[in-house]
Amino acid sequence: MFNSDRLLIHNIGQLVTNSPLYTNQTWGSVLEQDLGCLSQAWVAFERGRIAMIGTGDRPSHLNTWPRWNAEGKLVVPGLVDCHTHLLFAGDRSDEFLRRLRGETYQDIAKTGGGILSTVRATRSASDKDLIDLLRLRLDLALQQGITTLEIKTGYGLTIPEELRQLRLIQTANKDVHQTLVSTCLALHGIPPEFRSARDYVDAVVKELLPQIARDHLAEYCDIFIEEGYFNVSDGDRYAQAAKSLGLGLRVHADEFTDAGAAAFAARWHAASADHLQMANPSSFSSLAEAGVVCTLLPGTSLYCKIPFTQAEPFRNAGCAVAIASDFNPGSCRFRHLATLAALAAIHNGLTLPEALAGITIVAAKSLGLQNRKGHLTPGADADLMILPYRSFAEWFADLAQQPPTQVWCGGCLLVSLGNDEVSPNSGFP
Ligand code: NIG
Ligand code: FE
Repeated sequence: MFNSDRLLIHNIGQLVTNSPLYTNQTWGSVLEQDLGCLSQAWVAFERGRIAMIGTGDRPSHLNTWPRWNAEGKLVVPGLVDCHTHLLFAGDRSDEFLRRLRGETYQDIAKTGGGILSTVRATRSASDKDLIDLLRLRLDLALQQGITTLEIKTGYGLTIPEELRQLRLIQTANKDVHQTLVSTCLALHGIPPEFRSARDYVDAVVKELLPQIARDHLAEYCDIFIEEGYFNVSDGDRYAQAAKSLGLGLRVHADEFTDAGAAAFAARWHAASADHLQMANPSSFSSLAEAGVVCTLLPGTSLYCKIPFTQAEPFRNAGCAVAIASDFNPGSCRFRHLATLAALAAIHNGLTLPEALAGITIVAAKSLGLQNRKGHLTPGADADLMILPYRSFAEWFADLAQQPPTQVWCGGCLLVSLGNDEVSPNSGFP
């Protein structure tokens, strides 16, 4: 595989930089000019960081750098998937069939399926099996240009099991090139070992969160605020503890019912409020004021046949809107983030520039990584890819999606189609 400390990619048909969004830090509605698209462009990176970008003639000193000809294709920042449940074992494809026959996500959960069924499978899987599954899923993400991912626990639901899952994510983070952000989703379901949600929340707050903070095992805590799972007062205790330990907050908010989670997310200045189908519009301006990224998950709407969260009122309120896969064993098995962005344009009412920003810089913002990820501005990480299209509009219009021909992560070429030596994430010199 061709790799060097420095590289000049030239002859780029369209280069999406996202630089205006990064520089201005204004979110709300995103126009095409905010993406900073350049034609006949070049990008130079050095030691893993973007060094220079431009159009037309380039400074003569770059002429001695190794070169890659993009052959007039599209170059975009590496994608950021800011909501995934990638660490799990087991198979719930039967639930897909059951939903097609008319059962709902909640019906299935009540009869022993859903989250608790994956909890059983994941608890009984070995560390090796779980790491192998995680690496496979990360490789598949890399093949489509996803260079940064948030990964949630939530299929352990005991103190030792949640800690084990966080340690496995930490192990994976050390040996893949992608950037992984780890989130403790201990409050994903009520485990059978505990008599009530309250008792379990007590254990999580008193025992689990302090250990996570002490051992730096997660950057965020997440909670599923929903009828039959956890409520806002559970959330208040959890958020208070997380905040005092310096952990950030993310929220599975108002997916099936209005459980007051959007207002909760605003009150605690969560990094991200996700799902939001049933969120109360009265809280949208406070989400914007509190800087909470609103993350839409069109794949889950598609899979569970529930409404697609409409972007318009969030945009009008000035909220930053991200799109993520929510890849998980039950409610969404769809991992193709760029296709999901196109679906978000069709069903959630995002414009194409908003959809592209939603899987790059806005998703990076939700992870606190907007200085380094999701844009191609000098100083940012050299995470980028070449796609076999001439423009981002042509890319999104092709719902079946050709994969990127090349993907660089931190300046390392990890995917190059047609090159037999490609072995993503197995390390290179
Ligand atoms: O984001 N809503 C809760 N959690 C996941 C589903 C997880 C599962 O069904 O295993 C979600 O959709
Ligand atoms: Fe989720």
